[in-house]
Amino acid sequence: MSGLFLTFEGGDGVGKSTQAQLLEDWLRERGETVLRTREPGGSELGNELRDIVLHRRGDMAPRAEALIYAADRAHHIATVVRPALARGEVVVQDRYLDSSVAYQGAGRTLDAAEIRRISLWAAEGLLPDLTVLLDLDESAARSRIDATRTTYDRLEAERAEFHQRVRAAYLELAAAEPDRFLVVDGGRPADDIAAQIRARVLELLSP
Ligand code: TYD
Repeated sequence: MSGLFLTFEGGDGVGKSTQAQLLEDWLRERGETVLRTREPGGSELGNELRDIVLHRRGDMAPRAEALIYAADRAHHIATVVRPALARGEVVVQDRYLDSSVAYQGAGRTLDAAEIRRISLWAAEGLLPDLTVLLDLDESAARSRIDATRTTYDRLEAERAEFHQRVRAAYLELAAAEPDRFLVVDGGRPADDIAAQIRARVLELLSP
């Protein structure tokens, strides 16, 4: 028996965590066993790597950054996600390999195909059953972040152009794999978005 692997993607401030939480609550109400997790982080080692990659001061070479995300992914998928899927659980995850392609590929201008290959190697080829992309204009996303806090992590602190490249890369990824992606307008009311996501997930749940 194998479970279901659902990932949430999008820029910073688009509302991924809110939607992941709403989906988790709905799945639990239906009686599903849910593992809610995230990258970077999601394991003990991952939380140490998360702290380094998001908060370390000073320079970090883009390839070093890419490999830290990949190291986090390798450990997380092997020790947390695959075991949960093998138990037949529904994994609801904030961010996965598409984040690396968008942020390290388009954002840091590394080669997108190489970044994808490194991620797939790290995760031994695991792809999500469904990836929800919350799409939102960069300035709207920035206003949402600014409304809630005054400190930024290393990636959030990047310039607007960085985040515009990330957004464009996500839309390209979604267009290239329409069966895996559900693209949702992140500017819609949260309840509307949640309903769209539930409708798609329902199709994937076994009857
Ligand atoms: P996230 O956990 O979404 O941040 P927050 O908890 O503040 O909402 O993600 C942290 C940052 O890491 C985010 O800016 C995107 C970045 N990131 C990458 O650059 N590459 C990756 O592979 C992943 C998983 C995240």
